[in-house]
Amino acid sequence: MAEQITLREVGLRDGIQMAKSFLATDHKVDWALRIQAAGLREIELTSFVPPKIVPQFSDADELAKNLPQLNGVVASALVPNLKGAERALAAGFTHINYVLSISELHSQSNVRRSTGEAIEEFKRIVALKASQAGRQMVLGVGLATSFGCTLQGFVDPERVLEVARLIAEGGADELIVADTVGYGNPAQVKALLQPIMEIAAGRRVICHFHDTRGLGLANVAAAVDVGVRVFDTSLAGLGGCPFAPGATGNINTEDTAFMLESMGFSTGVDIPALLALRHDVEKWLGDERYTGAIARAGLPKTFKTNS
Ligand code: COA
Ligand code: ZN
Repeated sequence: MAEQITLREVGLRDGIQMAKSFLATDHKVDWALRIQAAGLREIELTSFVPPKIVPQFSDADELAKNLPQLNGVVASALVPNLKGAERALAAGFTHINYVLSISELHSQSNVRRSTGEAIEEFKRIVALKASQAGRQMVLGVGLATSFGCTLQGFVDPERVLEVARLIAEGGADELIVADTVGYGNPAQVKALLQPIMEIAAGRRVICHFHDTRGLGLANVAAAVDVGVRVFDTSLAGLGGCPFAPGATGNINTEDTAFMLESMGFSTGVDIPALLALRHDVEKWLGDERYTGAIARAGLPKTFKTNS
């Protein structure tokens, strides 16, 4: 049996948060169900941010009504604060991804508070989790700008580790290490992820890479080498943070699945089904920046999945 690597499809959150047009809720539901049908086991479905700030997610409650249909898939929602976590729980989500930024300038730009204040908010979300008496709540915590920041430049890896320790010991179930603006390289990935795997002490570690400077898949290979087995990816390589200047797309789901299957891992992903879906997504969204070598060149004749 090939070793399994999990891809979390973040196209419906990161992928469309900078899109020029609002994607109709029916299309979002279709996208999610076809991700499920294509064999992906996890999806970040939406974001509980104020609709005034990101109108794309004004239908988060409506989308959540489709959670029962997504059986067999772990569906999560991003939240920027306690209020978002309360809304996500009320809507029926059991998996919540709270994001804080290591870069002080990105933290201010993204959530209008310092990293320290965002850590205090994390503690309030942990208290919310503790108050759930018998109800499941899995809390992932994203560390944005872990490899550098377009606003601040250098981000101290020691600070990343310090915050990772605080949140692991403070009650996070999963650590999401994010290269928000594509500053990381494979050597940096190994140097940072090795100690984070230790800090995580058995909790899941998820890498969230953006391919802004072409190193996305090289960074995946480096993270795999140090034991990471979960990656955030976006259909057609869509994505980017609206509050980080110069941000572009996530690593591409189709290409990441292709690389990992070629390396002998099992992702469970039906790549041709994803290519058919992205064809429709391109029609629905219109003018956006779509990437992907497999969409361009096709799968090699010699390609076989390990699933
Ligand atoms: N969902 C809906 N409404 C929310 C909310 C949430 N998660 N959080 C706050 N609000 C509402 C408040 O109730 C308040 O409403 P009111 O004006 O009617 O009283 C208003 O928004 C302002 O609340 P406040 O707590 O002062 O927020 P803020 O203006 O300081 O903004 C954030 C802070 C975190 C809500 C905002 O910066 C944000 O949404 N950032 C996320 C950006 C993002 O999505 N980044 C990309 C992904 S990492
Ligand atoms: Zn991202």
